[in-house]
This record gives sequence, structure tokens and C-alpha cells, in this order.
Amino acid sequence: MSVVDIVLAAKKLSVDSLISIITELSLYVDILISKYEGPVTLDSYVRKQRNYNEGSSEGHGNAMVVNGNPDGLINSTKHTQGWTEALWKRMSANTWFSNEPDISKEAEAYEKLSTDQKRMYDITLGSLIANDSFQTRNLAVNMIGYISDPNIIAILTRQAYEEALHSESYGVLSTDVYKGHDPQKVFMLHQSDPELAKRNRWLQRLYDPLDIANGQKITFKMFIQAIAANLILEGIMFQGGFISVWSLGASMTGSSKMLAFISRDERTHLAVFCGIFNGMMKDFPELNDPVTRAIVIDMIKEAVEVEISWLKYTTGDGVFIFSDENIRSYIEGKANELTNAIGYGKIYNAGSSVLKKLEDTYGKIDDTRSNFFESKPAAYSKGSVDMSDI
Ligand SMILES: [Fe+2]
Ligand SMILES: [Fe+2]
Repeated sequence: MSVVDIVLAAKKLSVDSLISIITELSLYVDILISKYEGPVTLDSYVRKQRNYNEGSSEGHGNAMVVNGNPDGLINSTKHTQGWTEALWKRMSANTWFSNEPDISKEAEAYEKLSTDQKRMYDITLGSLIANDSFQTRNLAVNMIGYISDPNIIAILTRQAYEEALHSESYGVLSTDVYKGHDPQKVFMLHQSDPELAKRNRWLQRLYDPLDIANGQKITFKMFIQAIAANLILEGIMFQGGFISVWSLGASMTGSSKMLAFISRDERTHLAVFCGIFNGMMKDFPELNDPVTRAIVIDMIKEAVEVEISWLKYTTGDGVFIFSDENIRSYIEGKANELTNAIGYGKIYNAGSSVLKKLEDTYGKIDDTRSNFFESKPAAYSKGSVDMSDI
């Protein structure tokens, strides 16, 4: 077909059809260019993936984290990355529902808290509500579309469901805890508490690289920043909230249990994004350099300071155990766990903190699945994978 024939044929097409053909062609040009452009840089583009790619040359079990060429089918018998199979089993085994923790005594226990403790509980719940709301949307709207490996897409979809479950759990908690008060108040706290609004704005900026893209092309630098944002949210920005509620664990037993379930999920989510980060560094070793490290570490260090300030604000002077030193050691320790998991080693000389003992006491789940699971089908039985650290 000559150029003249193509032009003549094009004249018969609608504008929409022409746009669709041009879009299709540009996709294949992108793929061709990426195959011959050599090593990627932080300025290279990360392509958004399509549902079905008939011309895929990438075999199942041979998927890239991003910028691959998959056919789009999720094949659970062929995992490229071992962690996707192991974590899927672990997350399935961790299945729980918001009616599991017994929160029937929470309203009574809440009334007996001091004014400072009530304030800490309220603001903490307000911040956790924001964390999980943002994360549900971030995964579903911003992140998943750029992932190539279909099994990572599957696991991120499961994660997004769990974040929405956490949101539901805060609703269940607030309905019971604030009996006789206004259960909606905690959802609107960001309008009356400037510090909470400031924290939410900071979280938005953390997610900006993908969230303000709005049709613009995404670079590897932006995508790495987005992965770091997820690592930070899962590994640092929940920790102050969890530990605050666990400090009330002796009385607010239902809330502590609910957050123990949520915390266990967040540990698997942290493992998911460690897997994504480490997988990307393996797929694109040219990016595993001091520049990338500096980008990620700088973001983590900023997050540590934000979370420390937040915890000082929520605990004030009236809640025992939260000395400045305890807070700093605890949050820096959580950052060390994160940087260790992505191969960067410890970045702080964090001392021991009595807050870690609270985590060890109230953050663990007794996973015998007694009454609840005895009446359920065996589909929820524990996976065989050994991931004792999550
Ligand atoms: Fe969550
Ligand atoms: Fe999470």
C-alpha cells in the first residue's frame, strides 16, 4: 500500500478512528525504541500497560516489573518473582474481617481515658483514616496501571482491597468507641486540626509524582519516588499511630487488636513494595546507583522527621512513655528496618526504645483462628510459606 493509498484510506476514517490508530502506533514505536535505546536512565519513561497485548514476546514467568511486554494474562502457575507467590499465600492466609476483634467494651474504656489520652486516640484515628484512604486510591488509580508483571498487579489489587478493609475497620471502631458522641467527628478532624491537615498535605506531596501526572509521561525517577512513597507510608507513617493506640492497649483492648490485624497487613504491604523496588533494581541494574540511593534515602529521612514531629504532637506532654528520646529511637528503628529490606543497610544509630516493647506486646496476632475460623471453610487455612518476619 502506497502513502497515497494510506492517505486516501485515512480520509474515509473518522477523527476518533485516526486518533486510535495513531495511539496504537505510538505504543509500538515506544516499545521498539525502548528495545534499542539501551540502558534506562532516571529520565527514561515508564510506559502505562494495556490489558491485552496480542503481540507479546514475553513468556509467562519472565515478566519485567515495569516496561515489559506481557500479553496481560495473570498466570498464577508461573511467577517471575518468588515473592509474589509467597506473599499472595501469606496475604490470603492473613484474611480477617472487621467484626473479628471484640470491641464491645471500647466505649466504656474510652470514657475512662484521660483528656490527653482521648485527644491522642482521636487524632491518631483521624490520621490512620487518611493513610488508608489515600493508599486505596493510590494503588488502584496511580500505581497499578504502570506495572508490567501480571502477578504483581494481582497482589497490588489484593493490597488495595485490604486498605479498603482497614478503612471499613476505622468506621466500625468509631461507631462503637464514640457511642453517645458524634462518630462522624473523627472523619472530619482534618478540617478542624491544622496539624492533621498539614500532615495530609505532606502525604499528598509524597504521592504527587504519579498523582499529578494527569496524562504527562512518567519517568523512572518519578516512578522510583512513587515506590519510595509507598515504602514510607507502609513502613514509617503508620508506626506512630499504631504505637499510640497500643500504648492504651491495657484498656482499649478491641482497638489494639484491630490495629494488630491492620499492622500485620501493613507488614506484608511493606514486603510487596520492597519486592517491587528490589525487582526493579534487578531488571534495571543501571539504576542501582548512588543517585537513586540518595533520592530514596532523602525521602525516608524527611519522613522520619515528619513522623517524629507528628508523634510528639499527638502525644503532647500528658501521655506517659512518649519521651522525645523514645519516639526518635522507635521511628529511626522502623526506618532502619525499611532501609535494610531494600539493601541500603541501617541509616541511623537508633537506640533501644521502650515503645518497641509495646509493639511486641500488642502488635502481635494470636493466629489460632479459634471460633471465627472453625465455622468457615478450609479456604482460609494458613499458607505453607515460611515468612516469619511478616
Ligand atoms: Fe492499610
Ligand atoms: Fe498498606
